[in-house]
Amino acid sequence: MNNARYDRVQIILHWLIALMIFAMIGLGLFMVELPKQSELPPGVESVRAFYFLLHKSIGLTLAGLIILRLIWRLTHKAPALPDTVPKWQQKAAGAVHTLFYMVMVAMPLTGYLQSMYSEYDTKFWGIVLPRLAVADDSMRELFTAAHAFFAFCLIGLIIIHIGAVIKHSIAGTGVSERMSLRK
Ligand code: HEM
Ligand code: HEM
Repeated sequence: MNNARYDRVQIILHWLIALMIFAMIGLGLFMVELPKQSELPPGVESVRAFYFLLHKSIGLTLAGLIILRLIWRLTHKAPALPDTVPKWQQKAAGAVHTLFYMVMVAMPLTGYLQSMYSEYDTKFWGIVLPRLAVADDSMRELFTAAHAFFAFCLIGLIIIHIGAVIKHSIAGTGVSERMSLRK
């Protein structure tokens, strides 16, 4: 059986990014439900802005890791899947992985754009980023909708991806071990 594995850099980036994406999806869904200052009684301070700033800072850090991973992936081939995996499944895996990379770029990009078109400054761990456009409500709404749409696509891809990993683990094909942190 072909037991080629992903290289160390791809494995570390895969798990670091996966962990951060799970945290960001949780944080994103949680923070949009938090009450705004105007919805709270006088004297009660909203924590919404704190979590939004945290989400943006982690998201921009994640964007850097995703760019690094994309560059690494474009310059390092993925190990070939074993011949025991049917051709259609190899093609489906390739399609899901390509879509993953596209959505991993689209998420921080639409997040950044909606933030840029809002009236609030975009901060990166406290540093105010330069404003590249004037606040515009209709543009902000457009990118907010796109960000939520891509989040939905991302969750769908994760479900398919984990489903495939479980199937390979049960069938003992050796594919799940290709991304394992253990040697
Ligand atoms: C891979 C990175 C990211 C993931 C997985 C992610 C995920 C999410 C999710 C799941 C939501 C909730 C969507 C909803 O229910 O409406 C959300 C909302 C949001 N995200 Fe992100 N996000 C990412 C990056 C970013 C970045 C880089 C920024 C800005 C610099 C950002 C800014 C926002 C803002 C402002 C909202 C609230 C939108 C609203 O007001 O409804 N996100 N994000
Ligand atoms: C946000 C979560 C995740 C994302 C975005 C993600 C993304 C990806 C991508 C893009 C690849 C293809 C790598 C390449 O060829 O460059 C991959 C491979 C892989 N992932 Fe994930 N992944 C996530 C979570 C998980 C989880 C939770 C598991 C385990 C249950 C997992 C197990 C694997 C395995 C075993 C491979 C190798 C598949 C093969 O050999 O073809 N991933 N992942």
